Amino acid sequence: MRKPIIAGNWKMNMTPTEAVYLIDELKKLVADADIDVVICPPFVDLAVAKKLTEGTNIKVGAQNVHWAQNGAFTGEISVAMLKEIGVEYAIVGHSERRQYFGETDETVNLRAKAVLAAGVVPIICVGETLAQREANATELVVKTQTIAALNGISADGVAKLVIAYEPVWAIGTGRTATSEQANETIAVIRNIVKAIYGKAVSDAVRIQYGGSMNPKNAAELMSMPEIDGGLIGGASLRAADFAAVVNYDKR
Ligand code: PGA
Repeated sequence: MRKPIIAGNWKMNMTPTEAVYLIDELKKLVADADIDVVICPPFVDLAVAKKLTEGTNIKVGAQNVHWAQNGAFTGEISVAMLKEIGVEYAIVGHSERRQYFGETDETVNLRAKAVLAAGVVPIICVGETLAQREANATELVVKTQTIAALNGISADGVAKLVIAYEPVWAIGTGRTATSEQANETIAVIRNIVKAIYGKAVSDAVRIQYGGSMNPKNAAELMSMPEIDGGLIGGASLRAADFAAVVNYDKR
């Protein structure tokens, strides 16, 4: 059975001081969760997040990472830097990076490979825009993005990583995919993994849903057989809300 994984993507929110308050509150509220709980704060909060979550069940992830080991890449952060402070996950290819910062399927793949090679778990984001959904291109888009992201990654690597299906039209809009829509598209992603890597790998890879997931809809989304977790934006910025999503099965 796949272990559920709920991750909070703070995006460009929370100064290091604000992070202290949020984590302090959060760690009490999720202490009994027996699923994987991850927070992904901005880079400058990572060290403090690691320190504050020591000895708790909260893992820390980054929101992005460069694929080179080091070098003349002004403004970028390497996976070795993340590793040294104990970061265990890294979001790769979030649609906001694709939309605003020139992220391509190719750079998503480079990042995912670098992250895995360092023993950090990539959370690879895929998802269609509203125009693509309306043009009935959802399957084609998520298949293309998934195949490109996983290109050259071993079966072993794929079994370990996390994929987040995030329909772009559901992100930050309050418009959630129905649990059936999310389940259906995640099944498409799992099937493409199965076609390339076989059943053992597709049974192992965890696939989250992301896009306006919140305390109200988490239990229903998580009840779907293909949905193994959530990547939570807005609702991860309030400890009570994020904890309610993490504790979706305890209410
Ligand atoms: P949202 O963001 O929960 O605010 O829709 C999700 C995400 O972008 O990861």
